[in-house]
Amino acid sequence: MKHLLSLAIALCIMGNAIAQMDEPIIASDSLEISSNPTNPKDSLPYAMVAGGSKGIGYAIAVALAKRNYNLILIARGYDTLVAAKGKLEALYPIHVEILSYDLAKEESAGAIAKWCIDRNIKLKVLCNVAGLGGDHDYLRLPLDSLRYMVNLNVESCMAMSLLLLPLLEKNAPSYILNVASMAGFAPIPSKNMYSATKAAVISFSYGLRNQLKKKKISVSCLAPGPVFTKPQIKRVTKERLGWFGMQMAVPPKKVGEVAVKKTLKKKMIIIPGTWTKISATIIRTLPKRWMAGIYGGLGG
Ligand SMILES: NC(=O)c1ccc[n+]([C@@H]2O[C@H](COP(=O)([O-])OP(=O)(O)OC[C@H]3O[C@@H](n4cnc5c(N)ncnc54)[C@H](OP(=O)(O)O)[C@@H]3O)[C@@H](O)[C@H]2O)c1
Repeated sequence: MKHLLSLAIALCIMGNAIAQMDEPIIASDSLEISSNPTNPKDSLPYAMVAGGSKGIGYAIAVALAKRNYNLILIARGYDTLVAAKGKLEALYPIHVEILSYDLAKEESAGAIAKWCIDRNIKLKVLCNVAGLGGDHDYLRLPLDSLRYMVNLNVESCMAMSLLLLPLLEKNAPSYILNVASMAGFAPIPSKNMYSATKAAVISFSYGLRNQLKKKKISVSCLAPGPVFTKPQIKRVTKERLGWFGMQMAVPPKKVGEVAVKKTLKKKMIIIPGTWTKISATIIRTLPKRWMAGIYGGLGG
């Protein structure tokens, strides 16, 4: 039991070594890059992936494309969006729209929703994936960096869900997938705000699921452990957990596939990988006060 608990904690720490907060926080100007949607493929339903140009979001986009959804991908980087659109349209008989917005900016969700409503987009799936975190986020980062993380991880998810609700309701049965993390299951002192934002996403998803049940909109929440979306996650996992950590990680492609499959099956909490699931069960069972102490003791 002791070993299993240590493993669960180590996994949780590793699983959330995602996009680092030392990344410069540049609020790029909103830039709309859209084609004229007169494509015959527009008879297919649409899925939006906010944070869909790379990593888990791109894997979710692939899994949706396989199931014949047209896509609207949102991210900041124009070149990555164009590359993602090119790959997806070459592989699948779908149409991909790309919108370049910084989702941490307050006005982005409104502009994106207006773009969709003006075009009467047949939106059936909304995936709120974009998020960032990293080690030592609280007490070590300036307030504007912390606010940026809160805005991206929580506010954008809340605003996108609310403002796109009219289209999701019109096209029901429909689906919302919010991406949290295993870090959301218990407080991690060194990742205090990241962990708190992901806990908020989990709690928000539970409540929203209940609120939208009668509207035939299903809400799911993905809570992954380690996913090697960038080299530093793999490096740190290997350094801290060795061979065992490498076995624990779930490839992005599989995370995307599991997330979409289970979202369409209306599952509430989605945790890819057997070991991650076991770890999450242990973490969720223990009192949060204990978990904060255990993580703190481990330097987590
Ligand atoms: N990887 C893991 O181990 C792991 C574990 C648990 C949970 N998660 C969660 O899974 C989600 C995705 O993680 P990931 O590792 O796949 O990240 P990633 O590889 O960095 O991809 C993030 C995606 O979101 C976009 N994005 C980032 N910031 C944005 C912003 N401010 N506005 C608009 N788009 C933005 C990125 O494009 P641009 O940079 O061009 O904007 C990219 O398309 C996050 O919410 C993360 O917390 C990840």
